[in-house]
Amino acid sequence: MDKFIINGGKRLEGEITISGSKNAALPLVIASILSDEISVIKNVPNLADIRSMILILEVLGTDARLEGSTLNIDPIKCDKYEAPYDLVRKMRASVYALGALLGRCGKARVSFPGGCVIGPRPIDLHLMGLEKLGAKIEIEHGYIIASADKLVGADMLLRGPNGPSVGATVNVMMAAVKAEGVTTIREASCEPQIIELAGFLKDMGAQIEGEGTPLMKIQGVKELHGANHSVIPDRIEAATYMIAAVSTRGNVLIKKAKASLMESVIDKLREIGANIAEGSDGIRISAENPLKPVDVRTSPYPGFPTDVQSQIMALMTTVEGISVITETVHPERFMHVSELNRMGADIKIEGQSAVVKGVDYLSGAPVMASELRGGAGLVIAGLGADNQTVISRIYHVDRGYEHMEQKLAGAGADIVRVSE
Ligand code: UD1
Repeated sequence: MDKFIINGGKRLEGEITISGSKNAALPLVIASILSDEISVIKNVPNLADIRSMILILEVLGTDARLEGSTLNIDPIKCDKYEAPYDLVRKMRASVYALGALLGRCGKARVSFPGGCVIGPRPIDLHLMGLEKLGAKIEIEHGYIIASADKLVGADMLLRGPNGPSVGATVNVMMAAVKAEGVTTIREASCEPQIIELAGFLKDMGAQIEGEGTPLMKIQGVKELHGANHSVIPDRIEAATYMIAAVSTRGNVLIKKAKASLMESVIDKLREIGANIAEGSDGIRISAENPLKPVDVRTSPYPGFPTDVQSQIMALMTTVEGISVITETVHPERFMHVSELNRMGADIKIEGQSAVVKGVDYLSGAPVMASELRGGAGLVIAGLGADNQTVISRIYHVDRGYEHMEQKLAGAGADIVRVSE
């Protein structure tokens, strides 16, 4: 198992280039099996999660090759319909195989995604939506078995107790594009990856209206064809490096970052005191002391992303005053708090909020990543801390950040990867 060794206290300066969005690419990769023709997806990040999705394609009989950042997918021989436990357990987005297989061949056998360290992550809305389209769903031996002689468009509300669901919207979209008649999704997720999936499906010949709004309408079609598509830049990766720049009071050009995808993060960083300017090649961000404490409340897009909660918390640990960070999307997503406190932070959890009292400095310590974005928060903490921070279990971080240590070292950070 690899770990990061960070000698903190170095100001980030220079450029960091953002890769394609993991969360936008994952649905496109599996949606490609909705046709029998070749699809080409460009700007795909070479990440553990993407490789897991490619393995699922291969298990289903699809030919997929990732060369550089271009993924060629030939689904003509896709004749299996089972996504096994060994692959699905590694990544929750594997459950997208359910909607894609139902859309392709009317049947799917997909392992139930396991519990997740960021709290309970049910898939009741996914199953309800697919059932509304006419799928019969059974749970047997840890597998979801879905079948439909015919998928028929339906009217559905996809809202859960914590708001709309990205994953349920993705799954329903992939089945609905091939259903007979019109599907109306109320309270659909508005996240950029939904707009991206709709764009890809439309390039394949699907008829979709209202993507990016809570009311989406899909007119099913009989056939889809292959498509060529380039994935949008990763707004969560961009936000992570922007926060790292602020945390080290640095000055960095975040190349390829798109401000229109991350306005809530930019507004918050400006409130903290960062200087941010968007140019044709990306976003320039810099910060100097003193910075101001802020309150942050995560919520579905266009609100402040839950996937940036731990990173902004790491930043606020050394900003004088009290910052309150409230998590409404994954209310139990606070595993990074105890690790930040081990580095000298002063954070108390009160219900769904973390109350962060700014301290003068964090001190480097051995810490452990327990989930993807929480791990990124620890990296930010380590970059700003004095002395050495050793972060173990960085396989979590590798799921979502391409060459993180190389990108940060290129901007002046003292960070290396070593094998344990
Ligand atoms: C996606 C993102 C993840 C992000 C999350 C919220 C991908 C691959 N992952 O995850 O990085 O943190 O959106 O922005 O894009 N819920 C239910 N029932 C369901 C499904 C979800 O109650 O059937 C709840 C969840 O527990 C959670 C909320 O709805 O509280 C939002 O989850 P959802 O949008 O589905 O997240 P994911 O698609 O899993």
